[in-house]
Amino acid sequence: MRIALVTDSHLSPAATAFNDNWRAVGRYIGTTGADLTVHLGDITVDGAADASQFDHANSLSHDWPTPIRYLPGNHDIGDNPPGPGVPAKHLLDPKRLEEYRVALGSDYWSFDIEGWRVVSLNAQLFGTDTADEDAQWSWLAETLSGNAGRQIVLMLHKPLFQSTPGDVAPHIRYVPLAQRRQLFGLFSAVPLKLVVSGHTHQYLDRIFDGVRHVWLPSTAFYLPDGMQERVGEKVTGLGMLDLHADGYHFHLVCPEGVQRNNILDHPIYPGIAETRARLMAESLVRAA
Ligand SMILES: [Fe+2]
Repeated sequence: MRIALVTDSHLSPAATAFNDNWRAVGRYIGTTGADLTVHLGDITVDGAADASQFDHANSLSHDWPTPIRYLPGNHDIGDNPPGPGVPAKHLLDPKRLEEYRVALGSDYWSFDIEGWRVVSLNAQLFGTDTADEDAQWSWLAETLSGNAGRQIVLMLHKPLFQSTPGDVAPHIRYVPLAQRRQLFGLFSAVPLKLVVSGHTHQYLDRIFDGVRHVWLPSTAFYLPDGMQERVGEKVTGLGMLDLHADGYHFHLVCPEGVQRNNILDHPIYPGIAETRARLMAESLVRAA
């Protein structure tokens, strides 16, 4: 099975450059023979504030070359708290999660193919202490206990950690420590091979304790170093994942027509124009 992995498309009627990249990604996927596309979240610019952006994403994808399975990101349904006593900037909105499910399907799911079980999770639920979070933990325990020896790929919006599995500091970009430990506990009983995530808008590919962790870059834009710490490669593109009985193959693709947009040139979010002015003034000072 060939799966196209896309993330952080940040679509909205006003986000013309990001919509253009999305169309270019679709054209590329149409040439690959992919069976499925998985979107790892932040489908919209701000579905959390405006649920009609889910409909825009659906209409922009009406002639997509494969079926698409979606996962939610913080910009779609709100965010989880980064750690105990550390509030989320825009907390998960249960009503928006319901609207997301109606528009884009289940927010966590799994399927089996050729000796593999693909397991996906809603990372925005971690640490929210909601009935939805409890239901996802129960579902995950059941899904893994019934695995019957299949190799596992885990897909979710946020990477599990930045530097090492034991990272302690709370951070909006990664799964909180307590929930990360709970995940490692559950996945220790199954042959987890690969974890793929989005959210950071950077590409990174590492192996820890025999498990490969791949961060997918956004299809839409990158954030310059003055706005965001550089951990991986700041590119735009997508991933291609082939799963077969003997193993898997992953590669990163930056196809023709997908622009490497700098967010500072596309002020779709509040504060971007001001950040751009500040960074330009600082670089002028440095150059003087
Ligand atoms: Fe995100």
